[in-house]
Amino acid sequence: MFLDSIKGFDRIFHREPPEGSVTMVVGKPGTMKSSLVHAILSSYLWKNKGKKAVYITIEETEESHISNMKSLGIALPKNQYFIKDIASFKYEIAPTEDFLQDDKYFNFIISEISKPFGLYSKEAINDFPRLMALDSLNAFQTLFPLDSRLLRFRMQDFFQRLRHKKINSFIIVEGDPDVMIPEYFMMDGIIEVGIDRSHPQLPKRYVMVRKMRGVPHEMAPFMLNITKNGLEIGEPLIGWKR
Ligand SMILES: Nc1ncnc2c1ncn2[C@@H]1O[C@H](COP(=O)(O)OP(=O)(O)OP(=O)(O)O)[C@@H](O)[C@H]1O
Ligand SMILES: [Mg+2]
Repeated sequence: MFLDSIKGFDRIFHREPPEGSVTMVVGKPGTMKSSLVHAILSSYLWKNKGKKAVYITIEETEESHISNMKSLGIALPKNQYFIKDIASFKYEIAPTEDFLQDDKYFNFIISEISKPFGLYSKEAINDFPRLMALDSLNAFQTLFPLDSRLLRFRMQDFFQRLRHKKINSFIIVEGDPDVMIPEYFMMDGIIEVGIDRSHPQLPKRYVMVRKMRGVPHEMAPFMLNITKNGLEIGEPLIGWKR
């Protein structure tokens, strides 16, 4: 689905990554993690009319997400692209202290998130979305007062279910891509986004694939360009320094 999304992915991937890949998109604040994932999903949907995607936003409300994407000229494919806004949902349910004490809250949120995909139900759901974005893993994990080992174990299970259902998933992580986190091991792919400041007068946004299982790919950073048609992957960055 990468090659069938925003322009320029064929510069990076020599073949299409396997269906059902769980891909982390990691970068520091403001590096266009949300925009890149949104652009990938919506361009793919515009080109594939029967397909559906769910974008789960935890940090931002639906309204704020839509307005950011509009400012970048990325149109939403209606009836194909669904936003699950946990930021507002959290506020509406106003969980009580008791509800937050154990993992009831975790189960509740995860079942809300996975409902459209039928991840935890035995019933077969036809025509479920094959694309999912979670924005962000950091915000998601801070929702729960769970022991970090238990939380990781649950996340591993969640990713495994997505993979099993062949849902192409994008897990957004805010942070320094060089600082190892245990979730790195759970991913099929890791895409770094960043800003190259080796020429301070001319900072450049880039995207770089650090890992993608099952497919040959370039290792260099490539420019991430904002055009009037949305985002595109451009030339490799020359003389790049982190
Ligand atoms: N139309 C535009 N033209 C150029 N740059 C823009 C435009 N719209 C947004 N940006 C830039 O994109 C950045 C936000 O992109 P986005 O929200 O995708 O980043 P992010 O990595 O998800 O950020 P956060 O860390 O806040 O989640 C803005 O801070 C701004 O610098
Ligand atoms: Mg964001």
